[in-house]
Amino acid sequence: MKILAIETSCDDTAIALLEVKKSKFRVLGDTIISQTKIHEKYGGVFPMKAKMAHAKNLVPALLKVLKLKKHHKTIFPEGKIVRVRKILEREPELFDALQERLLNIRPPKIDRIAVTYGPGLEPALWVGINFAKALSILWNVPIVPVNHMRGHFLAPLAESKTIKFPALGLLISGGHTELILAKSPTSCKLLGATRDDACGEAYDKVARILGLPYPGGPHIARLAEKARSQKLTANNSFTLPRPMMHSKNLEFSFAGLKTAVLYLVRKVESTRLPSPERSKSGQGGWKVEQKEKEQIAREFEEAVKDVLVSKTAKALAHMSDMWEIKTLVVGGGVSANTYIMKNLKKLAEKFNIKFLGSSKALATDNAVMIGVAGLYTKAKPLGKIRAVGNLPIEK
Ligand code: KG4
Ligand code: ZN
Repeated sequence: MKILAIETSCDDTAIALLEVKKSKFRVLGDTIISQTKIHEKYGGVFPMKAKMAHAKNLVPALLKVLKLKKHHKTIFPEGKIVRVRKILEREPELFDALQERLLNIRPPKIDRIAVTYGPGLEPALWVGINFAKALSILWNVPIVPVNHMRGHFLAPLAESKTIKFPALGLLISGGHTELILAKSPTSCKLLGATRDDACGEAYDKVARILGLPYPGGPHIARLAEKARSQKLTANNSFTLPRPMMHSKNLEFSFAGLKTAVLYLVRKVESTRLPSPERSKSGQGGWKVEQKEKEQIAREFEEAVKDVLVSKTAKALAHMSDMWEIKTLVVGGGVSANTYIMKNLKKLAEKFNIKFLGSSKALATDNAVMIGVAGLYTKAKPLGKIRAVGNLPIEK
């Protein structure tokens, strides 16, 4: 079976083509067009700009993945093109690109189109969904609407890894922080989530406070790693809280941690003289020094790690009363963090269960994981497929 996967839930336009044989995946094509440059200046993702960029990027991304050659003339009947135009009436730029570059290529041999329908930014999700619908009409291929978070959870399957069920999933991304129980690839239940900011969001906000670029995760990780490798002695006045670490439930909270970093930075800065350049530019302010940034990044990452390990341990202990959990799967953008993964792996070893994550490329948003989840999802009629911004893991 061949699955074409489309992912536009946030700020990456991603398309992949997967071949599945006996539940083993082979990636035939995979591309991601990142919008980091567009959103960098806002320090976060701007939904309408994301939508516009997806509309611009989808056709080039598809052509890159399918590697199809042009035919000399349009090969689709007018009736289909009219339906496609209607589907894409809110994305005229996408329709134009499709008309110009896709109407003269032969339908590829694919069996289904997997498209993310949530959770995510609705304007961004809609572009991907409408594009999938347009392709579905043109090529007579069914659509399977995929839950983005299930994609993160199942991503390791794309790399020939096996999830033994029941499994516990820790999903840590820019928009979500969730502990889930999965009895099978299609049966997921939420055990606990963040009450406020997601784990990756905390990384991004802290990065912004420290004057680092967006997305902040990899930058914080680099500073923290530097502080650890230099064995800088921990500065006790830099201690940060571990929010909800000892609460009985399986919920998280990261907003307070980010605020604590903000206050800490202000405190450090208040002991400094203003830097002449920044005062001149009217921004006022005092600077935290590089070494201090490294120490703050390390302490922040330590706090995140402590909370994640402790809550996952609580979930494992709690769940093992009812289920014999066989695998701990960690997914989502923050699972690209080596230090956090190393510590979660140790935890899995303690519980004597299998530990799984994916390579860094499949930890952050991509379409391969959507294709994988697409194997385990049922097709739906086009009229029933719509973007659901706050889609829960159960759906
Ligand atoms: O899963 P993802 O690509 O997008 C969402 O579904 O949200 O996650 C993106 C998040 C961002 O917040 C980013 O800062 C974070 O993942 N991230 C990291 C690392 N790489 C990406 N956080 C910590 N350490 C990293 N190495
Ligand atoms: Zn994601």
